[in-house]
Amino acid sequence: MTTDAEARFDELIAADSRIEPRDWMPDAYRKTLIRQISQHAHSEIIGMQPEGNWITRAPSLKRKAILMAKVQDEAGHGLYLYSAAQTLGITRDEMTEQLITGRAKYSSIFNYPAPTWADMGAIGWLVDGAAICNQVPLCRASYGPYGRAMVRICKEESFHQRQGFEILLTLMQGTPAQREMAQDAVNRWYWPSLMMFGPPDDQSPNSAQSTAWKIKRFSNDELRQRFLGMLVPQAEILGITLPDENLRWNDETGQYDMSEIDWTEFFEVLAGRGPMNTERVRARREAHENGEWVREAAAAYARKQAAKAVAA
Ligand SMILES: [Fe+2]
Ligand SMILES: [Fe+2]
Repeated sequence: MTTDAEARFDELIAADSRIEPRDWMPDAYRKTLIRQISQHAHSEIIGMQPEGNWITRAPSLKRKAILMAKVQDEAGHGLYLYSAAQTLGITRDEMTEQLITGRAKYSSIFNYPAPTWADMGAIGWLVDGAAICNQVPLCRASYGPYGRAMVRICKEESFHQRQGFEILLTLMQGTPAQREMAQDAVNRWYWPSLMMFGPPDDQSPNSAQSTAWKIKRFSNDELRQRFLGMLVPQAEILGITLPDENLRWNDETGQYDMSEIDWTEFFEVLAGRGPMNTERVRARREAHENGEWVREAAAAYARKQAAKAVAA
């Protein structure tokens, strides 16, 4: 039997209205959102590492300032998303605990190393580019706090994608060694960035329910195709080769043909066996432990202020 609360929820979803924290929602909807938003938040925070690693080595003051701003944006994205997840009843401490004990999942893309400066270009162009394709439709996600966080995040992601493109463009107009470095970075990040959209539609068990709840608006394969539509003309401008000899537009299907993605690699990295998984979680745990005195000081200050307010 459908209760009034359930009927109201279904009505809001059908009308493309937003579900807000005060509204009744099915448990499974809440759980799905907590999982998705917290994983998304963790990805933003872990995603600071491959680029944070290059801030001290950026080739000029200007590049350093831009990269620092970009990495700070990612920290901000993590914070909006943790706050959005908290409105669903999970605490920040619980989420942090899941991350630093290695129990939480985050985007497998951040478990790859960034050995050269050109990786900063490839990450911005490909990883932030894929993030935009994934996130623009999430601005209309049915859960209000998630959709609203996404609007601001997307604006910043588009700056990130352009700064990556511009790094690659500069390298591609440079010496043969610089061009080679740019091409090598794109070769390494291209396939993992395509994996960011998740498994093919016929192997994506949770997609149908998320689509029915209007959290997800396009399928994994549709988003992957959109991403290719963005990359192909930009690769041409860059003079960079996308490392797939089977990649071409197919007039009949109205889609890009491409080689098979190596899903074994994807599932291995997701299961914690990627090149950098252990290091990423270790660095996060260490940062959390080293920040303990800051949290203590902030809490002590808050107590002092509260006591003063009571006394006044
Ligand atoms: Fe981000
Ligand atoms: Fe970004």
